[in-house]
Amino acid sequence: MSTELVASIGDMRDRISEVRRSGAIVGLVPTMGALHAGHARLIEQARAECQRVAVSIFVNPLQFDREDDFRRYPRTLQADRELCDRVGVDFVFAPSVEEMYPMPAECTVEVGRLADHLCGRFRPGHFRGVAMVVMKLFGIVRPEVAYFGDKDAQQLAIIRRLVADLNVPVRIVGVSTVREPDGLALSSRNRQLGQAGRQSATALFRALQEADRQIAGGDTDPEHVKRRAAAEIPGDDRSLKLEYLEIVDPDDMQPVGRIAGPVRVAGALWVGSTRLIDNVLSRPPT
Ligand code: PAJ
Repeated sequence: MSTELVASIGDMRDRISEVRRSGAIVGLVPTMGALHAGHARLIEQARAECQRVAVSIFVNPLQFDREDDFRRYPRTLQADRELCDRVGVDFVFAPSVEEMYPMPAECTVEVGRLADHLCGRFRPGHFRGVAMVVMKLFGIVRPEVAYFGDKDAQQLAIIRRLVADLNVPVRIVGVSTVREPDGLALSSRNRQLGQAGRQSATALFRALQEADRQIAGGDTDPEHVKRRAAAEIPGDDRSLKLEYLEIVDPDDMQPVGRIAGPVRVAGALWVGSTRLIDNVLSRPPT
């Protein structure tokens, strides 16, 4: 395998210093592993734009609000390494929890109102945990460019603000969502779905598409659009529970009172005990 597996922060820093001395541009793709074609798209883009590509694989306990979710999260390091090797990754940085958090942190990164709605509202502390680990990864790998998916639009918006607010010298690149042929956004959590759950899960994207149709058709009332969209989630499927469906400003992630420009329509759907999220960018007619 040509992908090098690095487990310690010290070794990662050494490798990156060597690469830097040769003048190479380093791209980082932060992940929690269980890699799929969505992650691969981020890696391919990094590969096309940077001389060296590092992928971090770390299931970050700080961003899980439920202990069972952290334990249940899929861990498939061997298969992940093989994917990285195929796509041409130079370094997989896969530290242990003890390596990343040798002691409880006294200093953390606070996220303001960008975390007030959508996932932030239902997962207290989640984005603080994400911001914390991403800042640590930036400090360890010191990439020139870092790649994040539109699939997690609130996360991407927060990271853009994080690097702007803290003057972190990294360029953030957003990559569009990779979907299954039936529209389901690829997610590491999809592998927790049974056959029936996999079928039902497509309701979320259908709801987002319905919202997109309404907005493109000129409906400017977010409450009306949300009602029409939520009707796409079958009420007789007891395994489904819509956690939220919101229409927000794409930059500051605040709900809009009226749809007058581009908006993010974002939703979270429980399918049994698996929580899925997705979003689309919608534009009213010009
Ligand atoms: P994870 O869920 O593994 O996702 C890693 C990156 O892949 C994220 O930027 C995410 O938006 C992107 N991604 C996931 N599914 C995608 C899809 N279907 N199409 C395109 N991109 C997709 O997001 C995280 O990990 C963590 O919060 C992390 C940023 C690594 C911090 O721990």
